[in-house]
Amino acid sequence: MFQHVEFYPGDPILGLMDKFNQDPRHDIKVNLGVGVYYDEAGRLPVLECVKTAEAARANPPQARPYLPMDGLPGYRKACQNLLFGADNEAVQSGRIATIATLGGSGALRVGADFIHQWFPQAKAYVSNPTWGNHISIFEGAGFTVGKYPYYDAATIGVKFDEMLSFFNSLNENDVVILHPCCHNPTGVDLSNAQWDQVLQVVQAKKLIPFMDIAYQGFGDDMDGDVYAIRKAVAMGLSVFVSNSFSKNLSLYGERVGGLSVVCPNAEEAKLVQGQLKFTVRRIYSSPPAHGGHVVDDVMNNPALFAQWVGEVYAMRDRIRAMRQQLQDVLSAKVPGRDFSYFTKQRGMFSFTGLTPEQVARLQSEFAVYMVDNGRMCVAGLNSKNIDYVANAIAAVLQ
Ligand code: LMR
Repeated sequence: MFQHVEFYPGDPILGLMDKFNQDPRHDIKVNLGVGVYYDEAGRLPVLECVKTAEAARANPPQARPYLPMDGLPGYRKACQNLLFGADNEAVQSGRIATIATLGGSGALRVGADFIHQWFPQAKAYVSNPTWGNHISIFEGAGFTVGKYPYYDAATIGVKFDEMLSFFNSLNENDVVILHPCCHNPTGVDLSNAQWDQVLQVVQAKKLIPFMDIAYQGFGDDMDGDVYAIRKAVAMGLSVFVSNSFSKNLSLYGERVGGLSVVCPNAEEAKLVQGQLKFTVRRIYSSPPAHGGHVVDDVMNNPALFAQWVGEVYAMRDRIRAMRQQLQDVLSAKVPGRDFSYFTKQRGMFSFTGLTPEQVARLQSEFAVYMVDNGRMCVAGLNSKNIDYVANAIAAVLQ
């Protein structure tokens, strides 16, 4: 009966995590694959602000009613305040439709379903390269997905002119999926001046910008990382924003994300909000409660919020320190090769330029795991494993 079902070879990132977990070389193995922040001790942290919020919620134990289809009001407000700023005119005038979602992936899927239903002619375009699931999610929602020029291996920068002329060739209502900060997988971001130019083309060509932000706080800071989003709103663009609290609250398995659609006015925002709720209802009904309450409690309590921001910046700073250290150690070990990209790239990822063969050798000979395309999650490094990793990289480069 199921003979015709196609074989699924597994996900290149999540499958790698399974492989890592099964690797018996416990004393040496290093996971630089999945985009997850590990602390200096190599552990997945539980943030202090989360511990406080969870302790308060656990005592006394709470009943578990269904949440609203679009999530808790305080959660939605928190998404809007973080992404757009509490004083933003669009927030104040109620012209942003926001729902809680099953992580950033859930936000992308609900947004993609919505656009495909109401703009059925639209095609979607992702950066080349991008996080592989962008393609799967938009194709899964029925889109034809193309790629726009982005990463330039020669300069370890952006093919900016090519990107702009590509955007100029697109049709009205085509969707461009953009990474406002900490580009996944390259770690190479646009400057603010480049964002201004990109958004001018988006506006002139009447494209639909879909900004996917999973790493707010890991690039520059909470406000600096949303420059492109706020600029798009200030220009009057109707922008889709998917955000994730997986990384910056270290709540990966709780599936906590959000989808916001900035609309021209509050009336249209009500229409969009209704359709987003309907989309949720017919896929999974309502979002999970525990993570939703934790986000609500942390974001809407000034003391916990301040503590949270400090904890995110501590994670950001540790990643930066690891970037610097890896660059220094590798520059000493492999003279003549430029490793300055480690400190130029931002966020959790570094595009190392290692070939699939070199990545395979790292895995088989050294139990160092990275994604096939050479993406390294720098947040998996710590002062105990960094020399080992640097030696392994030096060995496969020689
Ligand atoms: C990643 O890029 O590694 C993360 O966003 C995790 C995932 O779901 O792929």
